[in-house]
Amino acid sequence: MTKHLISITDYSKEDYMRIMELAADFEANPNQNLLDGKVVASMFFEPSTRTRLSFETAISRLGGRIIGFTDSSSSSVTKGETLHDTIKMVSGYADMIVMRHPLEGSARYASEVSDVPVINAGDGANQHPTQTLLDLYSIYKTQGTLDNQNIFMVGDLKYGRTVHSLLMAMSQFENPIFNFIAPKELEMPKEYKQYLDSKGIKYYEHSEFTDIISEADIVYMTRVQRERFSDPIEYEKVKNVYILRNSMLENTKENMRILHPLPRVNEIHVDVDPNPKAYYFDQALNGMYTREAIIAHTLGLK
Ligand code: CP
Repeated sequence: MTKHLISITDYSKEDYMRIMELAADFEANPNQNLLDGKVVASMFFEPSTRTRLSFETAISRLGGRIIGFTDSSSSSVTKGETLHDTIKMVSGYADMIVMRHPLEGSARYASEVSDVPVINAGDGANQHPTQTLLDLYSIYKTQGTLDNQNIFMVGDLKYGRTVHSLLMAMSQFENPIFNFIAPKELEMPKEYKQYLDSKGIKYYEHSEFTDIISEADIVYMTRVQRERFSDPIEYEKVKNVYILRNSMLENTKENMRILHPLPRVNEIHVDVDPNPKAYYFDQALNGMYTREAIIAHTLGLK
């Protein structure tokens, strides 16, 4: 059976731990010629910096070749070609497809059409499973465990696909606690809260976090995503609600780390960057090792 990665729930806890192990191996030795003779298609129908470049660097470091596009306007999609036909053909050219697309469900659809593994590099506000795996690796590396973590999720919890996937993944480990900090308009959707209720996992909702940040092991900041709003006035109302500043970190735990999937706009002030608790650029680098691990795991190369 072809092994796709479309949703974080496609992987078991054992898969997560295998990815952690492989990512550590690739971090120690990034250049391994495992993809010799293989071609990977990198199809980005929506803008990306980190996901695309870290995937393409991972493929290069594994000795593979890359085909694809960074902008669907340079493909025959502009002539009206369907996603079905595009994927069908590319799956004949390549040994694996990495795809980002603005439509929710597009990656699952592509996996049903493709003859080779499809890796979802983000489908609209739905899922971004490779981001979640690199987030897990970042938590694992900095905290030494994925158990007993108090995770603060801040910002756009409604449209933020990364927080949805991270919540699902962390729920597989022992005793997570979630603190959701969001304006009413962007609060965590009901289905995710129901999911936590069904598993007996504690969560708390707040409109402010300055007074409670001292309890956090991980503060996961998110950008309010302008591209997900159909009404610009709604975006203007919420875009500056939470800004993390260095002065807010004084009484935080020694081992607390600040994560952000990036790109940031203004939700983390630049005065946080030199603080050793700011981990978001290391997190982005972890993405390359984690994506090497995902490729190796998907193609059964290790
Ligand atoms: N974190 C993330 O997905 O970044 P890009 O949109 O730049 O790929």
